[in-house]
Amino acid sequence: MMTYLITGGAGFIGSNFVKHMLSAYPNSRLVVFDALTYAGNLGTLQNELKEEQVTFVKGDICSKKDTEQVFKDHKIDFVVNFAAESHVDRSIENPQLFLEVNVLGTQNLLNTAKKFWTIGTDENNYPTWREGVKFLQVSTDEVYGSLGIEGFFTEETPLDPRSPYSAAKTEGDLIVRAYNETYKMPITITRCSNNYGPYHFPEKLIPLIIRNILEGKKLPVYGDGKNVRDWLYVEDHCKAIDKVLHKGRVGEVYNVGGHNEKTNIDIVKLVIDTIRDIMDKEPKYREVLKKQEKSANGDIDISWINYDLISFVQDRQGHDFRYAIDPTKISNELGWLPETTFDKGIVKTIYWYLDNQGWVEEVTSGDYLKYYEQMYSNR
Ligand code: NAD
Ligand code: TYD
Repeated sequence: MMTYLITGGAGFIGSNFVKHMLSAYPNSRLVVFDALTYAGNLGTLQNELKEEQVTFVKGDICSKKDTEQVFKDHKIDFVVNFAAESHVDRSIENPQLFLEVNVLGTQNLLNTAKKFWTIGTDENNYPTWREGVKFLQVSTDEVYGSLGIEGFFTEETPLDPRSPYSAAKTEGDLIVRAYNETYKMPITITRCSNNYGPYHFPEKLIPLIIRNILEGKKLPVYGDGKNVRDWLYVEDHCKAIDKVLHKGRVGEVYNVGGHNEKTNIDIVKLVIDTIRDIMDKEPKYREVLKKQEKSANGDIDISWINYDLISFVQDRQGHDFRYAIDPTKISNELGWLPETTFDKGIVKTIYWYLDNQGWVEEVTSGDYLKYYEQMYSNR
């Protein structure tokens, strides 16, 4: 029975990965290790935590005491490191925190794994490693920087990060690679494009737009809305990580993405249209709206859910223009391809948010309102 340490497992992608692993490997042991920052929520894992094979440990990847304790308490075979500060806008406000967690936290976790996984040294004084262990670093396409209107990121594209978030993720990748080169640590790195789907914290574009519509608020689009992101349904990302973890070649980087480029303005319009269509066909969902004005026929009015809600606001500083992944390597080597088309995925995602308003309220009940006020009041 293999034991997986899933750091950041109470966040968006990490929690979806826990759910994927439980159904794909029901006999494995999953140790969810998370500091429960504003982005981590145990309610997300309430069903999974009832399962005997899932253990939750509250801990910080920056703390040697915390990481060593979890390795002492569990015989870890795999580390999947999702734990990170993940929001570009927050990184512009507080770059140091991003370096502390995404760089030094990653290095502390690597060092702990090295301490518990090495069993001796070889004739050249390299550490020798326990059979079958592996450290997977969950990285991002943002380490490659920003594309113009053409081209794709391959694994050979030079690293060229532009934001404090992506700079910190890049340094995280480099220290992971350094542990492989210097100590022969068995690692792999995945670099994925923008994810969307259930449990996405509503500070990121898609869940923020959904939430704002339901709250009857304006929809802030940075700059002219022409920036391009390459969107992937979160379950497809989790399946890619599963493949790379179990079948990927040690020391390699795999890009993950599904050729699904959209401008931000197109995404916002699609979300508006989809919510209005759902509420048109299934009026019960109008009950979710905060704005409950009645139209002439007595139904809750939804005519205001239209493009007039869009508000072009001040652009993000250093806003990367376009991301787009070339997934040839992972497709050819590991047979991974995305399964959920964007048309289906976005509808599934919107239904999930409509059906899970309790979750949204829970995760936005703390500092979220303060954050929103501070981040958007000057825009
Ligand atoms: P998230 O912000 O939703 O979750 C991050 C999780 O890490 C939270 O549960 C948080 O509590 C935890 N965490 C933060 N600091 C910690 C610390 N010091 N110790 C332990 N836990 C800590 O992020 P996400 O969107 O799920 O992203 C997960 C990973 O995937 C990140 O490494 C991110 O860089 C990467 N990634 C994200 C995307 C995306 O589109 N969201 C795309 C590619 C890669
Ligand atoms: P985001 O979800 O923050 O992901 P990332 O910056 O890591 O790609 O943003 C996605 C895109 O949407 C990005 O180009 C910035 C833009 N955006 C807005 O236009 N308005 C918003 O309120 C947010 C949060 C993002």
